[in-house]
Amino acid sequence: MATPTRPERDTVMHSWCRQTDWNAPTVVGGQGAWLHTADGRRILDMSSLAESNHLGHQHPRLVAAIREQAERLCFVTAAWGAEPRARLAELLLERSGFDDGRVFFTLGGADANENAIKFARQASGKPRGWVITRDRSYHGASYAAMALSGDSRTRTQVDPQAMRVDHALPPYAYRCPFGTVDAEDCAHRAAAHVGELIEAHAADGVAAVLMEPNAGTNGIVAPPAYWPALRGVTREKGAYLIADEVMSGFGRCGEWFAWQRYGDEGRPDLMTLAKGLTGAHLPLGAVMVSGAVSRILEPQMLFTGLTYCGHPLSCAAGVAALEAYADEGLIERSRRLGATLFAELQRMQQRHAVIGDVRGGEGLFAVVELVADRDTRAPLSPWPEMHPSLKTLLSEAMAAGVSFATRGNLIILAPPLVIGENELADALALLDRLLARVG
Ligand SMILES: Cc1ncc(COP(=O)(O)O)c(C=O)c1O
Repeated sequence: MATPTRPERDTVMHSWCRQTDWNAPTVVGGQGAWLHTADGRRILDMSSLAESNHLGHQHPRLVAAIREQAERLCFVTAAWGAEPRARLAELLLERSGFDDGRVFFTLGGADANENAIKFARQASGKPRGWVITRDRSYHGASYAAMALSGDSRTRTQVDPQAMRVDHALPPYAYRCPFGTVDAEDCAHRAAAHVGELIEAHAADGVAAVLMEPNAGTNGIVAPPAYWPALRGVTREKGAYLIADEVMSGFGRCGEWFAWQRYGDEGRPDLMTLAKGLTGAHLPLGAVMVSGAVSRILEPQMLFTGLTYCGHPLSCAAGVAALEAYADEGLIERSRRLGATLFAELQRMQQRHAVIGDVRGGEGLFAVVELVADRDTRAPLSPWPEMHPSLKTLLSEAMAAGVSFATRGNLIILAPPLVIGENELADALALLDRLLARVG
């Protein structure tokens, strides 16, 4: 490929930034948890590039599967069959235990969530039924996904109520909106509050509750009691439960899917996937529907579709990804290294008063919340702003060859599941040193 003659900052529109601020390195290669930049640097990726490169960069098995499929057949419409699509569906149904369910393939997470809502509304017989999600959540940046998201950054661009979406207060135990300091109590109250919202919309009906099981993209990690309690409430009130596993799936939370931590007590009716589904080697998302939902939808017309639904190249990458997770024991590895990560962050909390809370611990996903005052829990900067000293931490880490991700006052740690133990230890030692200067 010919190298571009004009700088990318002058020709491309980049997401989630002012175009004039964009100043990111150009990545030309990668291996494992490392990225290689055009100016010859090696950067350790502590966020799996938006929590998606679970398998690291340039996983040889994925690269080989994509190449092999490209040589055989690049594209076939979703109206016709494709072997990699059928194989991936079968593997996903096995891994999730949605044995007699079905899979609808999309291009990523936002459209998976939009289609999950369509299916839930159709199967529930409430085509314009309400959907309940929660504040401080992220479900994508297409219009309906923005309405589903409880994200203050995009609140003015879309009217969730007009799309029949209502947001519940979150199970944010560190700052519990229900006024309790007990995490489990907060979880139960938050789940009961969803039940109240379902009742409040009883006249029009609630088709579904859509939430992340525990790890929260926006930095809230629900206490363990939340998801099973939510499952209980949604079952009792007759609303479908949709697990958004776009970020938490594929080992990120120490299980294939985060809800599996609760066994059948946590089983959702529908689940959405993307990111780790191909370890981000190619774009792909999916909606999985349970056998019960599938049986309702099977005789009905589905008014939905995307030209690239179940693209063979992406599905071949998905099959290789699922095989890699299993053969390389990456789900267990995430659980084991996640425990080390969490314990180390808790030790850092003892040393740095700026760390108010450390959440996670169920896999390679953890959130560090920074505060101005640990006793009052006053935030380091008002949400969703980033404190200048945290910006300095990020640039110093980058200069030392490590990339950390932040959201407001939160440092989100989600390295690839293949990260070496020494690499993880080195990155945490660097974070420890740099935290001494934050606040
Ligand atoms: C929980 C969750 N849902 C949905 C999405 C949207 O996925 P995509 O960016 O592939 O549309 C994301 C992306 O960050 C996510 O973290």
